[in-house]
Amino acid sequence: MAKEITLNFKLADGEVRTVDAVVGDSVMETAIKNDIDDVVAECGGSLICATCHVYVSDETAAIIDEADDTELDMLEGTSAERRDNSRLSCQIFVTEAMEGHTFETPESQ
Ligand code: FES
Repeated sequence: MAKEITLNFKLADGEVRTVDAVVGDSVMETAIKNDIDDVVAECGGSLICATCHVYVSDETAAIIDEADDTELDMLEGTSAERRDNSRLSCQIFVTEAMEGHTFETPESQ
């Protein structure tokens, strides 16, 4: 059986939702499976929409790969403010080390 951990999504309206996340899924897939409507993911993870924009915490940034050039290009087109900690959640994959980490969703996608 796939290993699961717990992740939090801090929504734009301030609500924090705690969800089960399958190790190996993307953070975008985790959001969609758990009805986190703030993550839209129009392209389904093909890296052509930027509607899976999230803000990552320092603790998460420390354990994930940096954004590649394609993701950085797509981050130029986010609807909400792009910050230093902006990432596309379809490019972040759940690992056991992420237990309890929080992803913040932007005002708009
Ligand atoms: S789901 Fe489209 S870029 Fe992430």
